[in-house]
Amino acid sequence: MRVGGSVRWLLEPTSPDELRGAYLAALESGLPIRFLGGGANIVAADGTWNGVVISSAQMRRIFRPLPGTSDTEGMDAGDADFRMAMPEPAYDPRLIAWAGCTLPALVRTTKGLGYSGLEGLMGVPGHVGGGIAMNAGGSWGDIWDHIEFVRLLNPEGEFVDVPRAAAHPTYRNGNLNGGLVVGAVWKLEPAPKLVVEARIREYLLHKQKVQPVTQWSAGCVFKNPDPERSEGRSAGKLVDDVGLKGFAIGDAQVSPLHGNFIVNLGKASASQVFELMDQVQDRVAQATGVELEFEVKRWLAQSQQ
Ligand code: EPU
Repeated sequence: MRVGGSVRWLLEPTSPDELRGAYLAALESGLPIRFLGGGANIVAADGTWNGVVISSAQMRRIFRPLPGTSDTEGMDAGDADFRMAMPEPAYDPRLIAWAGCTLPALVRTTKGLGYSGLEGLMGVPGHVGGGIAMNAGGSWGDIWDHIEFVRLLNPEGEFVDVPRAAAHPTYRNGNLNGGLVVGAVWKLEPAPKLVVEARIREYLLHKQKVQPVTQWSAGCVFKNPDPERSEGRSAGKLVDDVGLKGFAIGDAQVSPLHGNFIVNLGKASASQVFELMDQVQDRVAQATGVELEFEVKRWLAQSQQ
């Protein structure tokens, strides 16, 4: 969204072991800690935040199981062994990605290999870690659909593997119980590359038509409400029905294209974005009785918390 201020400490580990080291050091500092993935779904307050931000942006690696071995090189993260028994690699459409791998990079890899299942993530500008934590998705499904297991760093600083069957992701929430995503293994469906490519193109074209993809935003601001409370209307439709598309505070504007996006027209501040979000939430509640819940993560200043 290109608003917001700075942070006292920014740590950028490049591997799972460094991530663990950064987390333990941050714990020892006694300062508050925040985790940053791609930042695509975060609006951070103006000013300087006196804490530690640990970013996974440098943990971008993506791997395939090595042919002819039982080793999944790359998921081998220090003490915790990230190995699996590998069947025939040619029939094993698995991918391993670390938390900082971008979602478009992950999808491009599936396109190159002819693996289907993640095409709808192509237009999502975030990273694997944030995508899993938030359960990124859309009408096509979500990021957890084809996951085999996720490796987490738990609040005690230990690596823990969570198989899909033991996880309970819900709408826009990975429900990770305070765990930090280190990486994940997906098991995808083999498919002709041209088919995968065509599906990706279809999702992107649709997205470009209905969302302000070329403007600075943090994606959808609100979660879609329970259809029973909103008469089946999505958050964007409710904002639209209340007549708030185009409404602006400074350079922060409700997108004229899609009511659930706030865009930065150039020089918006985080406080203007927060103010606009609050006003939209209030006005929708007054007009429709529906209390919209934030989907974006608001990183408030210490004084606002
Ligand atoms: N609509 C309006 N006016 C608007 C916006 C939407 O009438 O201003 C109507 C649309 O015509 C459509 C309905 O509302 O009938 C739903 O809109 P859309 O298809 O754009 O989907 P959405 O529910 O708003 C969800 C996700 C998006 C994801 C899309 C596509 C949420 C909050 N949003 O949007 O995710 O890209 O589906 O799959 O779940 C995000 O999470 O940041 C995000 C953008």
